[in-house]
Amino acid sequence: MALTLKSGFSFDYDNLFGEGKVTQADLDSYKDALKAAHEAMKVMRETGFIKAHLSKDGNPEKVYFSKLPYITEENGKLNLNSPASIQRLHDFTERIRNNVDAVVSLGIGGSFLGNKVLFDIFCGEFWNTWTVEKRNGLPKVYFSGQNIDPRRTGDIINHLKAMAAQKDGKYKVMLICISKSGGTLDTMSNFMVMLDALKKDEKIDVEVVAVTDPNMEKKTLLKQLAVDNGWESFAVPDGVGGRFTVFCEVGLSTAAVIGMDIEKFLQGAQDMDKACQNEDIFQNPAMLNAALKFIASEKYGRNIEVMMPYGDYLKSLSEWYIQLLAESLGKQFDKDGKEVCYGRTPLVAVGTTDMHSQTQQHQEGTLDKVVQFIKVEKWADDLVIPNVFPDTKKLADISGVTMSEALEVARQSNADALKSNKRFNACFTLPELNEYHLGELMYLLAMSVAYEGELSNVDAFNQPGVEAYKRIMGPKLQELKASK
Ligand code: PA5
Repeated sequence: MALTLKSGFSFDYDNLFGEGKVTQADLDSYKDALKAAHEAMKVMRETGFIKAHLSKDGNPEKVYFSKLPYITEENGKLNLNSPASIQRLHDFTERIRNNVDAVVSLGIGGSFLGNKVLFDIFCGEFWNTWTVEKRNGLPKVYFSGQNIDPRRTGDIINHLKAMAAQKDGKYKVMLICISKSGGTLDTMSNFMVMLDALKKDEKIDVEVVAVTDPNMEKKTLLKQLAVDNGWESFAVPDGVGGRFTVFCEVGLSTAAVIGMDIEKFLQGAQDMDKACQNEDIFQNPAMLNAALKFIASEKYGRNIEVMMPYGDYLKSLSEWYIQLLAESLGKQFDKDGKEVCYGRTPLVAVGTTDMHSQTQQHQEGTLDKVVQFIKVEKWADDLVIPNVFPDTKKLADISGVTMSEALEVARQSNADALKSNKRFNACFTLPELNEYHLGELMYLLAMSVAYEGELSNVDAFNQPGVEAYKRIMGPKLQELKASK
């Protein structure tokens, strides 16, 4: 059983639905809740309203992520994607082409994870070792700010200085500092350390670009710095929470730096949004995915979701999903203030790598998981396993098979083995690993957590739990500074 869209994108839920799994009767028992969730999504799309959603300051806040796939003048008024904002991103690409040597994107959480997905998938591991020509004049790209780690930050600084020392003339580094709130410790500490160190190197020219809340009346600290120093700025719009920002100028700033096809990415998201407007659950990927996993958790105790794409460069997609699921659904109280301690726990896994580590637990451990596979149907550069040792039967037997075929046989075998032992699993298939299908997938996952928020009656768009440690950490840092 699979839901296949016209684009070829599919959601195979055969090992999650039916006899001994989530049943039709289960779905029927949530018929009214599903209808209400679908209505709520309609209202969200049209007005941005989500029942009981409050911002960090306790004020009602609109939710606009579902508007991001649409490039319209109207959306431009809300700092969402408009023809002008997309053109500005294209101009940004051309401004840095053959002009900037290296970009450091600084951010954490929603201001990092989606950007890393785009970079890993479209640039791969060796982008920074390629010649400028092979990168079409685009810069090397580094990520920082996603930890307060002196070792790695020092390593990046030293690496950039070494690169600068090898170049005739000045080495141009652009620091893209991304923070919606504009003052996140992890991001800003790295930013200050890096800016200070690079500015002191006479071979390096540093330019800063700020990506933050654009509100000019109540400026974030980063916005104020951008205004004071004349830095170029991009917007993190109101109503778009960190984990949904890959479709706004947060993610799109990295897309522009690496020359990705932004319109295709948004088109994939838009077409998925349209599919998710279908009232028929079996034609609506987000509603179906959310409903099956919600019921699998509530009724069958499968409250861990292992996100397991097959392919190395997809690992960061799994890491992005961790934040999306954890921050959206891990909530102590429901929308009526009742204590529920809800939330499926997400886990990162990669096939085939983790078949040699985690699969033992998935196959035989606690019956508390849904394994969600992601498969790429057609890989751009496939390799045939050659017959290098014809006299060694075991190796000769796998020759002639492509690596992508072997990868899929491994995934399919894993799915079959899990199924044979009552282990729930499902698979998203991307026909190819391109901007369009990635847009489809990331948007589907974002819309799914929105549906699941409605089904479980928790606010999928706040994250009050992350304030608890911040309240402790702030004074601790002050104490530390005072003691110096
Ligand atoms: O989802 C979220 O809101 C968080 O994970 C944020 O993205 C993260 O804390 C970074 O925040 P900011 O962009 O304000 O620096």
